[in-house]
Amino acid sequence: MKFLFAVTLLCIVHTGWGDNDIESTFGDFKASPRQDLPFLELANYDGYTAEQHFVTTEDGYILSLFRLPIQKSCETSKGVMMFMHGLYLSGDDCLIPGPGKAHCYIYSDNCYDVWVPNVRGNFYSRNHTTLNPNKDSKFWDFSVDELAVLDLPAVIDYVLLETEESELSYVAHSQGVSMLLILCATKPEYNNKIKVGFGLSPTAWLDNSRFIVIKFQSLIAPGLTLTGPLLNVEVLKRNGLLQNSGELFCGTTTLAYPICSFLIFAALGYNEFQITADVLPVVVGHTPSGTSLKNFVRWGQIQNNGFSKYDYGTLKNLITYRTAKPPLYDLSGVSMPWVFIGSDNDYVANVTDIKFLQTKLQNSSLCVLSDKTFGHLDFIYGKDIPNYLTPIVLSYLDTGSYTCT
Ligand SMILES: *[C@@H]1O[C@H](CO)[C@@H](O)[C@H](O)[C@H]1NC(C)=O
Ligand SMILES: *[C@@H]1O[C@H](CO)[C@@H](O)[C@H](O)[C@H]1NC(C)=O
Ligand SMILES: *[C@@H]1O[C@H](CO)[C@@H](O)[C@H](O)[C@H]1NC(C)=O
Repeated sequence: MKFLFAVTLLCIVHTGWGDNDIESTFGDFKASPRQDLPFLELANYDGYTAEQHFVTTEDGYILSLFRLPIQKSCETSKGVMMFMHGLYLSGDDCLIPGPGKAHCYIYSDNCYDVWVPNVRGNFYSRNHTTLNPNKDSKFWDFSVDELAVLDLPAVIDYVLLETEESELSYVAHSQGVSMLLILCATKPEYNNKIKVGFGLSPTAWLDNSRFIVIKFQSLIAPGLTLTGPLLNVEVLKRNGLLQNSGELFCGTTTLAYPICSFLIFAALGYNEFQITADVLPVVVGHTPSGTSLKNFVRWGQIQNNGFSKYDYGTLKNLITYRTAKPPLYDLSGVSMPWVFIGSDNDYVANVTDIKFLQTKLQNSSLCVLSDKTFGHLDFIYGKDIPNYLTPIVLSYLDTGSYTCT
């Protein structure tokens, strides 16, 4: 199974398979009416008002930023909340489980002004002032480092300006956590713009990650790092092979649920009871959402080198950093408070690695869920989000403390 998964990824990375339209052969049958709806339509279908804003980064990327404005029934705003998605994913993640169950709906129901950015290159942010993502490989010349120091400050500043607030609360999954760590380490003034960061399954050091795709990435990273511009291509795009085969297996019939849930998610520390049969087709209809091959390989570098800067290979590292290996990010300047939530069943963000990250930070706490089966994707798609996760966020924002369940 792991072998097949790696081979599939390899094919997506190295061939044009990603553009085949397998779905068309299966007509329009849908297991869920919510399955393929993009963010605005999904929010409207679920009974919420949503807006789309566009933010241009200093290097010309045009990012989609969604918003669930304060609900009419709220007397006052409880503040600004930003939800940042993870690697290969999109802002859709905070809607997918549906009303009463998804992160963004719950924060909106609690009178927060909810903003949902999409990083460069994903399904909603394939746009640029001068570059064409379908033609210019330069468009795909980025990794998490650019997402962190170019995309994230652009959306934070836009939201603070637009809302006339001085700070916001940040809820992030996986790579979204890494982005804010890098930003606050690199541009310390951003510490003051974040009230608190909630890190769901936070990724920085991946020494103990046993997620097969990360292992694959770390295996190919040393060789591919040296190929430079060849890394500037799109991988894992929405409507590509991986998503279409996911929809094929999981989106057209609920009978396939036990099989496809195992095939697609077991490798991530997936608990079949957390992603329910009604939510699974919606997940596969909205994932993956694309990134660059450079960023794909970048996460393999991070597993090999620790939470370090970009690895250009020995020669260029010596020129750039004056060391053969890239230096670690210096997190000593990250002064903003963090609340991390981890799980002993997370194959990506291992609790040992989260605890190591904490030793580098000034102000963080960690809740390790007592449910030993919670996996990496359950933090965004699991049925127990309203029982385990959002109460921590809401309680911390109201009282400064929380109960870890
Ligand atoms: C890209 O952004 C420009 C400027 O905002 C806009 O006119 C155009 O429609 C966008 N293209 C796509 C494909 O979203
Ligand atoms: C951590 O941050 C919180 C929230 O800003 C603050 O109340 C607390 O005093 C800080 N703790 C430490 C040890 O700095
Ligand atoms: C986390 O890391 C420890 C130490 O390497 C390992 O024993 C454990 O199996 C890992 N947990 C997961 C869920 O991968």
